[in-house]
Amino acid sequence: MIKRAYIETYGCQMNEADSELLSGLLQQAGYEMTGQDADADVVILNTCAIRERAEERIYGRLGWLKTWKAEHPDGILVVAGCMAQRLKGELTQKTPYLDLVLGPDSYRQLPELLTSVLSKRHPVVETCLSKTELYEGLPVDHKPGISGWISIQRGCNKFCSYCIVPYVRGRERSVKPQEILSQAQRMVEQGFKEITLLGQTVSSYCCDGVRFSDLLYQLNELPGLLRIRFMSPYPTDFDESLCKAMALPKVARHLHLPLQSGSDRMLKAMNRQYTYGEYREIVDRLRASVPDLALTTDVIAGFSGETDEDFEQTLQALREIRFESAFMFRYSERDGTVASRKMPDDVPDAVKGERLERMIALQEAISKEQFEKMVGRTLEVLVDGESRRDPGQIIGRSSCFKTVLFENAGENPPKQGALVQARIVKATSHTLFGELIS
Ligand code: SAH
Ligand code: SF4
Ligand code: F3S
Repeated sequence: MIKRAYIETYGCQMNEADSELLSGLLQQAGYEMTGQDADADVVILNTCAIRERAEERIYGRLGWLKTWKAEHPDGILVVAGCMAQRLKGELTQKTPYLDLVLGPDSYRQLPELLTSVLSKRHPVVETCLSKTELYEGLPVDHKPGISGWISIQRGCNKFCSYCIVPYVRGRERSVKPQEILSQAQRMVEQGFKEITLLGQTVSSYCCDGVRFSDLLYQLNELPGLLRIRFMSPYPTDFDESLCKAMALPKVARHLHLPLQSGSDRMLKAMNRQYTYGEYREIVDRLRASVPDLALTTDVIAGFSGETDEDFEQTLQALREIRFESAFMFRYSERDGTVASRKMPDDVPDAVKGERLERMIALQEAISKEQFEKMVGRTLEVLVDGESRRDPGQIIGRSSCFKTVLFENAGENPPKQGALVQARIVKATSHTLFGELIS
């Protein structure tokens, strides 16, 4: 009988892309994928460990899955991803009904491990970190659509003092440029129009003398590919050549550039390799090279030792730079990081919460203004299709990464994957509304 597998993904886009890889591997091994746990023989949670809350959610979900295990005595429950890598065997102690704990660098072995788990019937823990595993040659089950991912770089060498990623994803490794180009080519042949390059510090990509900016030039030449995006870059990688590459026609007019804090004291404690002034210079250089570039960012509130004054500097940075939007987080101490060993988590929870709220309120107001500024402009929109919420509307994404909705009127509504021009007539702080003009 054909076995069915179900994958649930938490965390960042790298995990989303990894789930497509796990799904590809499972299908190659003869499994069929299903969209729900009820009719699955294998349930995989692909997990995130970035903040405590992320892990609590997964524990909550594992609690629910105890019932699934009871109803599926031969079912296999797998925890994969960053939380698996962080907690290893500890997970099977807390959740004894788990069958397999699988770290990211062991994905290649998933099919064999599932077979061996069946014969062993005791939890298997496979969490070796590799210096070389690049996940090359593995089948990827791309989610159908017009936008797809390619992981071009894995691991991180930056060791920001608060961050767990270097410990759960290992050292930085870059995929060979030929491999990336042929994967992009295959995706375009399958109908993808937009490719997002992924890496924990994607802009540090370097392989066989090919740097990240070189890769952008090469991909820009790929016929049929309409847009190139990437996540997440590191600010100090934006030298002159990369700033220039940002102006290439197919490179999206959007950059997610994590700032983390506006205080030099905090940036230093976080082991970020720039001061606020240097970050500002990078932003100025980028804006000079690409005037219509939309910037978004990540910011942390309440890091160890953050005073009111440090926090005010972060607010000031948000006011000065005027990001289109920001992901804002309250600091969550992670075991094993330099901060957890050397810097007390001393900002009271209530203060962290208050600061986060103030920061969100400020950024919301800025986002609203930034979005309203788009009214009257004409944007090039990559059409994704009918809006799921309202089939009377077409949904798409501008090059500057804003969602654009327009009426699904006329005989020949634009099809998924079409590039159209839309005049923006209305804006909220997260969405633009447009009229089709071509
Ligand atoms: N590699 C990316 C970030 C990945 S994590 C980069 O360097 O930009 C995404 C974001 O989570 C980070 O930018 C940071 O703002 C936040 N983050 C990471 N560790 C955190 C922690 N311990 N507490 C709160 N936020 C954290
Ligand atoms: Fe974490 Fe810093 Fe690496 Fe980003 S650059 S993944 S925040 S250690
Ligand atoms: Fe989370 Fe791992 Fe991504 S910790 S943010 S899923 S790299």
